[in-house]
Amino acid sequence: MENTLYNNEVAFEIEPKVVDETRQGETLTLEKKNGLRSNGKKFYIESYGCQMNFADSEVVASILANAGFDSTSEFLEADLILINTCSIRDNAEQRVRYRLQHLGAVKKKKRGAVIGVLGCMAERLKEKFLEEEKLVDIVAGPDAYRALPSLIEEAETGQKSVNVLLSREETYAEISPVRLNSNGVSAFISIMRGCDNMCAFCVVPFTRGRERSRDAESIVNEARELYKNGYREVTLLGQNVDSYRFSKDEKLVGKKLVDAKYDESVINFARLMEMVAQIATDLRVRFSTSHPKDMTDDVLHTMAKYHNICKYIHLPVQSGNSRILGMMNRTYNREWYQQRIAAIKTIVPEAAISTDIIAGFCSETEEEHQDTLSLMEEVKYSMAYMFAYSERPGTVAAKKFADDIPEETKKRRLQEIVDLHRKHSWELNLADVGKTFEVLVEGVSLRNEAELYGRNSQNKVIVFQKKNLAPGMYASVKVTDCTSGTLRGEVIE
Ligand code: 5AD
Ligand code: SF4
Repeated sequence: MENTLYNNEVAFEIEPKVVDETRQGETLTLEKKNGLRSNGKKFYIESYGCQMNFADSEVVASILANAGFDSTSEFLEADLILINTCSIRDNAEQRVRYRLQHLGAVKKKKRGAVIGVLGCMAERLKEKFLEEEKLVDIVAGPDAYRALPSLIEEAETGQKSVNVLLSREETYAEISPVRLNSNGVSAFISIMRGCDNMCAFCVVPFTRGRERSRDAESIVNEARELYKNGYREVTLLGQNVDSYRFSKDEKLVGKKLVDAKYDESVINFARLMEMVAQIATDLRVRFSTSHPKDMTDDVLHTMAKYHNICKYIHLPVQSGNSRILGMMNRTYNREWYQQRIAAIKTIVPEAAISTDIIAGFCSETEEEHQDTLSLMEEVKYSMAYMFAYSERPGTVAAKKFADDIPEETKKRRLQEIVDLHRKHSWELNLADVGKTFEVLVEGVSLRNEAELYGRNSQNKVIVFQKKNLAPGMYASVKVTDCTSGTLRGEVIE
């Protein structure tokens, strides 16, 4: 399946189900309701954007289920229609607006339904949303989901209701997310919220607020519970997982804990990952996203030590040129990034590396664009999310720099990046032919019911004959064939 993103953006082909940070507009339905008392009302939720948003929708579903709502995958049936939005690029916002207009038109016909906008766009636009989109009744930012039941009550009386307060503490730690549209095998666990990095292009620090880490015990408990329920893979999620730091020590709680790096009571990301990996040897652990400035050798050694920590690192580079990286405020340069890649290749040699790249950032010259291509040549990413720069209101870049690269040039540079990545992906896939991988079976192939698909530790999708295997089982699969997006193989055990 081609994972087509927004018009000028391209991620890579994976088959058959895309589970990545660029899923969009996916409808989520409750797996089961655990006998909670119904209030007779149904909610429908649609999510856009990153994995964090999808994980948040699962928290929202849990809060609504506790308030007595049932879920529906049919928005026409819903009393409450929620859209969990993304602001990362302008076209992500446009897409949500089109969708709202459509849902609004339907709402007009079916009087009584309440429409709520959640997530980053809610936070960015606040009350303005209600003026701009008259059909919206509720605006709730990413830290306001506990208030949803009362916001809904208010909206039902005909009032518009808004809560966009950002919190320094909210992690929804004890809320057990309701797994939505789950394959029953892999699940996301939010380990932190917000972001304290101020990348010049990025709206996230403004929409999701300050960085805070979730209680380690609640994370481990959630993973253990998932394992008990048959799940065999968890992905630990955060905007910047490497800066995860948690302590129960009263003196340290609330502080960013950076200075307390070496304090015994502080759990850092390497330690957290180890705690989750120790739950069971057949529970796979993944994580996303790593920031090159924070990814320590400690994390890499922990990855190398545990077979069940997947050998896959998403390490967004954004640009291969040091001047542009400086302007982006990424706080590393090309050499630092190269040195991090070298560390991965030494400590976890079998790791696959993926990235995010922005084409045509403010003032980027042709030579600087070439630096991005040459870095790609060096690293050879197994997967890449590639974007044309989109200026976001309120960001440092919008305030300080002119968005001066013509759209045509941005598009052409993006295409060159995409073409090179496709070539690398094809080469890497070809190099996998003949190799045998341990694959966690995730589901039945959409194209052929006699086939299953799963992923290897390196996060590559492999399709193979069903035999007597089922989702949640591990299989040894020898790769026999490939396209640039998918590996095909045969089960050897
Ligand atoms: N324009 C283009 N791409 C962006 N990203 C974030 N902000 C922007 C922007 N303003 C990309 C970055 C980031 C990914 C999630 O989205 O590559 O890593
Ligand atoms: Fe945005 Fe940078 Fe934070 Fe990622 S690390 S969310 S790109 S500010």
